[in-house]
Amino acid sequence: MKFFIDTANLKDIQEAVELGVLDGVTTNPSLMAKEGIKGTDAVMSHYRQICELVDGDVSAEVIATDYDGIIREGEALADLHPNIVVKVPMIKDGIKAIKYFSEKGIKTNCTLIFSAGQALLAAKAGATYVSPFVGRLDDIGHDGLQLIQQIVDIFSNYGYPTQVLAASVRHVPHLIQCAELGADVVTCPLNVITGLLSHPLTDKGLATFLADHKKVNG
Ligand code: G3P
Repeated sequence: MKFFIDTANLKDIQEAVELGVLDGVTTNPSLMAKEGIKGTDAVMSHYRQICELVDGDVSAEVIATDYDGIIREGEALADLHPNIVVKVPMIKDGIKAIKYFSEKGIKTNCTLIFSAGQALLAAKAGATYVSPFVGRLDDIGHDGLQLIQQIVDIFSNYGYPTQVLAASVRHVPHLIQCAELGADVVTCPLNVITGLLSHPLTDKGLATFLADHKKVNG
């Protein structure tokens, strides 16, 4: 299973890189805005910095919602760095653009997936990744993890190479359940990745080991 970090914060990305388990990064316009990155030049330069930090796929989202605009922005993003994956929203022109990018060998991540039908359509268009949003479905009383299960099953039935990238993963149990269901990738904030480290019995056991060592060794 691949671990992506869902942030545009360079410090968090660096910390995840140093942990040695990071496979990539996902961003979106809200995450870029959170870091105060504004204007095309600043955005492009920020993506370049992220790509230089991480040896893996970096999803950079287009803002355009019309076919020509998505193609123009996506090609400019893809030209920035070989790690860039063009993130395209699940809309009609987005699907057409994913088909175009796929024929050109440009990697894509189809975002804002909330149904199995949307995921199937993106896979047929040749998306490299689909991003179903687990937490946002839970927020409205649906079962986000059930959608992960459905998509994993459908892609497996037909051998689609499109990878299931579980997004809007908010806590450790989400991540573990995505792993149990066979999601190819999870993307989540740093605290969810580092949350995997913790168990009170680990802390208690280590304290006992160190105390016992000290009793004998001083
Ligand atoms: O990758 C999508 C993610 O950024 C959405 O997460 O927590 O805003 O629903 P959230």
